[in-house]
Amino acid sequence: MEKSGQLWGGRFTSGPHEIFAEFNDSFRFDQRLFAADVRSSVAHANGLADAGVISREECDAIIGGLSQMIVDSENQANYFESNAEDVHSFIEGRLIDIIGDAGRKLHTGRSRNDQVATAFRLWLRGEIDDIDSLIRELQAAILDSANGYSDAVIPGYTHLQRAQPVLFAHWCLAYFEMFKRDRERLADCRKRLNIMPLGSGALAGTGYPIDRSAVAAELGFEGITANSLDGVSDRDFAVEFASVCSLLMVHLSRLAEDLIIYCSQEFGFITLSDSVSSGSSLMPQKKNPDALELLRGKAGRVIGHNVGLLTMIKGLPLAYNKDMQEDKEAVFDCVDTVSISLKAAAIVIENLVVNEDVSNDAATHGYLNATELADYLVKKGVPFRTAHETVGKAVLFAIDENKELNELSLDELRQFSDQIDDDVFDALSLEATLASKSAVGGTSPKRVAESLENARNYPTAA
Ligand code: ARG
Repeated sequence: MEKSGQLWGGRFTSGPHEIFAEFNDSFRFDQRLFAADVRSSVAHANGLADAGVISREECDAIIGGLSQMIVDSENQANYFESNAEDVHSFIEGRLIDIIGDAGRKLHTGRSRNDQVATAFRLWLRGEIDDIDSLIRELQAAILDSANGYSDAVIPGYTHLQRAQPVLFAHWCLAYFEMFKRDRERLADCRKRLNIMPLGSGALAGTGYPIDRSAVAAELGFEGITANSLDGVSDRDFAVEFASVCSLLMVHLSRLAEDLIIYCSQEFGFITLSDSVSSGSSLMPQKKNPDALELLRGKAGRVIGHNVGLLTMIKGLPLAYNKDMQEDKEAVFDCVDTVSISLKAAAIVIENLVVNEDVSNDAATHGYLNATELADYLVKKGVPFRTAHETVGKAVLFAIDENKELNELSLDELRQFSDQIDDDVFDALSLEATLASKSAVGGTSPKRVAESLENARNYPTAA
C-alpha cells in the first residue's frame, strides 16, 4: 500500500515489507513533535522566501496550509490516523494534499536530519519550561509543609541510627536545596539545547542562501549550530536532559524513601493522606505508601533511559544514523515520568500530616543529646576528645539505667566529670540542643527561619 507522505520512493522498485515498516516507522510516537515541526517548517518557508528560493505567494500558501493543519489537528479526533513513516513525512504529505504543488517546495534546502534535530529541540525546550514550573510547585509545597510544622522536631539520622534532633522544616529545606540544583541544571541544559541545527542539510550544510540566524530568531533559538556534521548528529541535549531527569528522580526517590520510613508503624512520624495510599486486596488493615514507592521505582526507568541514550550514541559514526530515532521514546518517557512524578510528589507533601508528638518523642529518646553533653564539657575547658570519651561512658551507664542522659541525677552525671554542674540540664534540653546549631546552614530555629525566608525569595523565573 502507498505510504502517506512517502518521501523517498524514486529509486525503489518495491515497497517496504510490513514488518520493516512496523520496525522503521516512528509516526506512532513522534507525532508528538507535530506542532514543533509545523512551527519550524513555517520558519523554514519564511527563510526560503526571504532568500528568494520560493516566491512570497508560495510561502504564504505553505504557511496557510501548515496553519490549517494545526487547526484540523485540534478539531479532528482521528487526525493522526495515518500510515506515514514519521511526523515529517506526515506533515509534508498533508501539506501537499491541502495546497498542491507549492507544498512540494517546502523541503528545499533541508533534510529530515536537520529537521528532526530542530523540531526535537524546539519541543523539548517547551517541556523543560513546563518541568521547571512543576519543580517550583513541588518546592512551594515543601515550603508550605515546613511552615505548617515549623515547631516539629524529628530525629536526624546517620546510618539510619538516631543522631541529632533536627527541625522537620530543616529536613524539608534539604530537599528544597536539591530541587533548586535540579532547576539550575535544567536551565543549563536548556542553554545548550536552544541552538538551531536547521540549515545543516543532511550532513554537509545547505547551498541555498538561507539566513539561518533569522530563522533561528523566529523560532526563539539563541543561536545556530556551527558545524553541519555535528548539527545533525548531536544528541548531547537529549543525554543531558535525561541526566538532569535522572538526578531529579534520584532526589524524588530519596524523598520518597525518607517518607516511606517515616510513615511506617515503626517510626510513625508522618501519616500519609488516604488520597495517595493504597489498600491491600487481602489484608484489610493495610495502608500502603504506593505513591512514594512509585516515585522510588520510577527513578530506575529514567536512569535507564539516560544509560540507553549514551549507549545508543557511543558507537555511531558521523553523521546521522537511524539509531538516533531511538532518542525519541527515551526522552518522551523521561518527560512523562518526571512530570507525573513531580505532580504526585507535590500532592503527597501537600497532604501529609506530621505526628509531632511521636517525632518529638523519638527526637528526645536514644541519646540524641550526647554530642550536646560533650560540647557542654568543651565549654568548661575539657578537650573535645576527652569529653567524647567521658560522654561515651555516661551513655553506657545511662543505657544500663534505662534512662536518658538528662534523666540521670547530677550526682550520677558527676561520676564521669566533676566539670558537670546543674546548668547541664538546660544544656541538654531539646530546645538548647536545637538552638546551639546556630552556624549558617544549621538546624537552629533562627537559622531555619532565615533559610525559609531565603527559599521563599529564591527567584522563581525560569
Ligand atoms: N524519524 C527519523 C528520526 O527520528 C527522522 C530522520 C530520518 N532521517 C533519515 N535520514 N532517515 O531520526
